[in-house]
Amino acid sequence: MIDVHTHVLPAIDDGAKTPEDSIKMLADSFKQGVSVCVATPHAIIHSNDDIDEFVNRRKQAYESIKSMIDGSEYGLPKLLLGAEVYMDNNISVFEDISKLCIENTDYMLLELPINKNINKNTAEWVYELTLKGIKPIMAHIDRYVGVFDFTEMFSGLDVKYQVNAARLLSFGGRRFVKDLLKYDNTFVFSSDMHNLTFRKCNMQRAYNKAKKQIGDITDSLFMENANNLLKILK
Ligand SMILES: [Fe+2]
Repeated sequence: MIDVHTHVLPAIDDGAKTPEDSIKMLADSFKQGVSVCVATPHAIIHSNDDIDEFVNRRKQAYESIKSMIDGSEYGLPKLLLGAEVYMDNNISVFEDISKLCIENTDYMLLELPINKNINKNTAEWVYELTLKGIKPIMAHIDRYVGVFDFTEMFSGLDVKYQVNAARLLSFGGRRFVKDLLKYDNTFVFSSDMHNLTFRKCNMQRAYNKAKKQIGDITDSLFMENANNLLKILK
């Protein structure tokens, strides 16, 4: 599986607290069948300086676990660097914004505000990002069901959608996924893991449940769609 949304880097956001946590989270994820994991720390960007500051902090966090990854006695997924970029302003105006794309790709994970007052210009901002060649993946769209109609908001735009695997495991998960599949769009399921306890990696449980409920399309949702976007696995 490919997990495009994780908070696995240490001491950079509300995810892993220590390098040891990071390694344990990665090892757990690998044990569950994840072969590629994208680290997507929260990024709140209001200037070009914020981008540089974020990229430096992310580099430090990555370097604090790099030697542990290299010398790990556990099997670990391949780790790529990305960001979960908060869309509370028109981030397309910042010259260096593409530095926040997932490593070696044009894809960027974008997080929308959860409140009902989501800015009416959001779709325009997303459109402007696409004009810069950035390919948006909207994070955990399951969170916005009943808040606004995301398919209507982004209709006509080339955006992909990420769904938290936990949604499948919650009440009504099967119906939720079946409803999603009616849309002609690309969905990728990921963990959005933050820790080893209440927001841990749940990819294996979600995959197994989906496989029973919706069959072979599960492989597209948990791996093939993400691989078609990111071109990671041969
Ligand atoms: Fe997240």
